[in-house]
Amino acid sequence: MTKVNLIGSGPLIVVGEHTVTLEDGSEVVKETRASYCRCGSSENFPFCDGKHKNV
Ligand code: FES
Repeated sequence: MTKVNLIGSGPLIVVGEHTVTLEDGSEVVKETRASYCRCGSSENFPFCDGKHKNV
């Protein structure tokens, strides 16, 4: 089962295998978990790079 957790004003964390379709149409498979930026500050968008801690 894939689960989604929201961390305060930080990232959205998806736990479990899932596929992300990026803006250019390419797909990235995440086999265990991934953190997604919700603050818009990440330099590795759509993935969280920890910059939300400085917002
Ligand atoms: S939520 Fe972590 S960098 Fe945006």
